[in-house]
Amino acid sequence: MKRLNLLLCVLVLVTLVAACARKTATPAPTTAPTQAPTTAPSTGAGQFRVVVIGKSVHPYWSNVEKGVRAAAKDLGLSDDQAIFFVPPQEDVAAQIQTMQTYIAQGVTGIAIAPSDPNALEPVMKQAADAGIIVTTLDTPPVEDSVSLVYIGTDNYAAGQVAGEQMKKLLPNGGLVGIGRGSDTALNALQRTQGFLDAIEGSGIETLEPVNDREDAARALELANSVLSANPDLAGAFGVYAYNGPAWATAIKEAGRVDKTKLVCFDATTDIINGIKEGVIDATVAQREFDMGYKSVQLIYLIATKGQDAAFQEMGVKDGVIDTGVDVITQANLKEYEATLDAKGIPHEWNTSGWEPEQDEVDQWK
Ligand code: BGC
Repeated sequence: MKRLNLLLCVLVLVTLVAACARKTATPAPTTAPTQAPTTAPSTGAGQFRVVVIGKSVHPYWSNVEKGVRAAAKDLGLSDDQAIFFVPPQEDVAAQIQTMQTYIAQGVTGIAIAPSDPNALEPVMKQAADAGIIVTTLDTPPVEDSVSLVYIGTDNYAAGQVAGEQMKKLLPNGGLVGIGRGSDTALNALQRTQGFLDAIEGSGIETLEPVNDREDAARALELANSVLSANPDLAGAFGVYAYNGPAWATAIKEAGRVDKTKLVCFDATTDIINGIKEGVIDATVAQREFDMGYKSVQLIYLIATKGQDAAFQEMGVKDGVIDTGVDVITQANLKEYEATLDAKGIPHEWNTSGWEPEQDEVDQWK
C-alpha cells in the first residue's frame, strides 16, 4: 500500500513537472493587438513597447497622455507597452537621459518632443542606429533628422494665424509683449516668427520675447514685469500653453482687461476660462490629444505593417502628419466644444450656463 502511494505521488509529481515545462515552453500570452501583425513587430525586449517623451508637467501634456492611453487601449496594449514621460519643466538633460534608459531597454519605438532639437539629435540617432523607430511630436526635429515623421502643428503657419488675430484686435497698431517657454524648441521659434511676419507693416511693434523655460510661475513674474515696465501695453502674445493664463492674470491684476488684447496658444481649462471671462481674446488651439494618439498608432503600424503601409494608412506627407489647429474666440467657443464632443475628445471645461458677450463677438465681425 505504502509503495502504491509512493508510486502515485511520483506519478503526480512527474505530471506536474511536465505540465510546468509545457507552460514555460509556450510563449507567454501578450495583451493581443486588435489587428494581426503582418510582419513581426521589432521587439528588442520580446514585446512591442512605445515611449512618448514630452516637455513639461502641464495639462497640455496630460491631454497628450490621454491620447497615448486612448491609442494603447484601441490597440490592446498594456500600460507598460505604451509609456509616457515628461520632466517637471524644460529639461533637455532629462529628455536625453530618458532616451538612453529606453534605448538600453530595447523598446520598439520612441516619439519625442525635443526641447532642443540639436542637443537631442545625437541620442535620437543612437536610438535609430539601435533599430528603434524614432518619431517626433509637438515640436519638430532638426532638418535631416533621424526622426521618421513629425506629428504636430505647422507652427510657423499657426504663429501667422495668431498674428492675424492680433491684427484684427489692434487695427491701429500698438506695442505687444511676447512670452514663451523656450529659446531653442523649434515650435516656440517658428510660432514667434510666424507671428512677427504676419504683423509686419501693420503698425504693431513687439518687445523682445521673454523666456520662462516652461516654468509657469516664472511666466507670470515675467508677464507682470513686462506690464509694469510698459503700462500702456496694447497687446500680449502667449506662445506656450501656460503663457496665455500668465498674461491673463497679469492683465487682470493691472486692471487692463479691456485695454490689453491677448492672443495665445492652446485650449486647456484655464485658457477656456480666460476666453469665457473675456480676458483672453483668441487662442490657437492645438490638437495635442491627436498628437499623442497618432504617435502610438504610427509606431505600432510601422512595427507591424512596415513603413510604407504605415505612412500610407496615416497619410504621412513629406515626413509630416499635420494635426491642425482651431482658432477659438467667444464667438465660436460653443461650436468648438461641440466639435470635441463629436470626436469623443475629453475636456474638463464646459460652456453650460455661459453665453458670449455681444461686444466680444462683434470684434470678430
Ligand atoms: C507647446 C508645448 C509646450 C506646452 C507647455 C504648448 O503650446 O506646444 O511644446 O510644452 O505648450 O505647456
